[in-house]
Amino acid sequence: MPQLSKAINNLKASSTVAFNAKARELAQQGVDVVAMTAGEPDFQPPAHVLAAAHEAIDKGLTKYTATEGMLPLREAVAAKFQRENGLSYTPEQIIVSSGGKQVLYNAFMAILNPGDEVVLPAPYWVSYPAQIQLAGGITVPVQTEAASGFIPDPEAIRRAITWRTRAMVINSPCNPTGAVYPAEVIKALAELAAEHDLWLITDDLYEHLIYEGSFTTAAQFYPERTLIVHGASKAYALTGWRIGYGAGPKPLIAAMNRLQGQVTSNASAVAQYATIAALNEVDKTRAFIDMTKQAYQERRDVLVTGLNRLGLKAPLPHGAFYVMTDTTPLHQDENEAALLLLSRAHVGVVPGTDFGAPGQVRLSYATNLESIHKALERIARLLN
Ligand SMILES: Cc1ncc(COP(=O)(O)O)c(C=O)c1O
Repeated sequence: MPQLSKAINNLKASSTVAFNAKARELAQQGVDVVAMTAGEPDFQPPAHVLAAAHEAIDKGLTKYTATEGMLPLREAVAAKFQRENGLSYTPEQIIVSSGGKQVLYNAFMAILNPGDEVVLPAPYWVSYPAQIQLAGGITVPVQTEAASGFIPDPEAIRRAITWRTRAMVINSPCNPTGAVYPAEVIKALAELAAEHDLWLITDDLYEHLIYEGSFTTAAQFYPERTLIVHGASKAYALTGWRIGYGAGPKPLIAAMNRLQGQVTSNASAVAQYATIAALNEVDKTRAFIDMTKQAYQERRDVLVTGLNRLGLKAPLPHGAFYVMTDTTPLHQDENEAALLLLSRAHVGVVPGTDFGAPGQVRLSYATNLESIHKALERIARLLN
């Protein structure tokens, strides 16, 4: 067979996907696995969103749309930013893509030249470094500590900025730590970006899942250099529908759209109609978010209390649906700890390695309470 490219040979597979697959494989062999690997709501999407998708299919609204997303959806996204965040965007400043993941990829491709550096707090979501690498960039992680709730220190970020730094990525609430950054930290990071003439990418996908504290988007400080990455996956349980959206300065959005037009064209038409309903039928969607948020919070409390009781230290995450826990009582190496948890306790977790979190694993609590209790009992038995 002829050779594959260097770029693809250097690309690591997503460890979340890999450990999720391992858990699934074991389950297919008949083992009762509690999978806490995937970042995926276990709820069905709200009924009014499903109804909008059915209606689009019935009306035959299934053709290509504008590459950047259909206008009524971009108007609905603009209205959301005005209503919820006090931010004014025109539809030309918004792009709809196949998931937040594609918005991010479009952005890195649009802003990075070979060798450009991107600073970001660690632990970070696994796909940032992979996408930055594909775009020719270099990830510069700045470690945050469990003891300070994984909140970044702006001074440490400042020290990581060099003449090669082109962008900063922030993600609050954060996957994998669940940290919710205080407004003053986000403001200080935004000011650093402005001071050093950086692009600021704020990944706001978990905006609606905050249990303590409040949401701040970095875009409120310097919108002219900030890209918001957002989407329908987490808040509306629409993971498989693949809708993400970005909002930012017009030239950046136009560049991302040029790339998207050559690579994937528009995001799924039916899913775009569903997302319009999710964004515009405000009261129904709010009721759904409130219901799911309450469930996640209860699960989080059970899980974090249980882990800490077992001696697996985990700071209380204030948002998203993940917890990072110290696994050194199980094994010094987080990969070995994750393998032990899967093979001996039949609990699927993701090792922290690819999140920039050595000695830790990530558990997703987007799973029912019964499974969480079961996982805790099994981990207790393994530790004994
Ligand atoms: C921090 C973060 N950003 C972006 C994404 C991408 O989500 P999607 O492509 O489903 O919108 C995820 C999904 O896990 C995430 O956790």
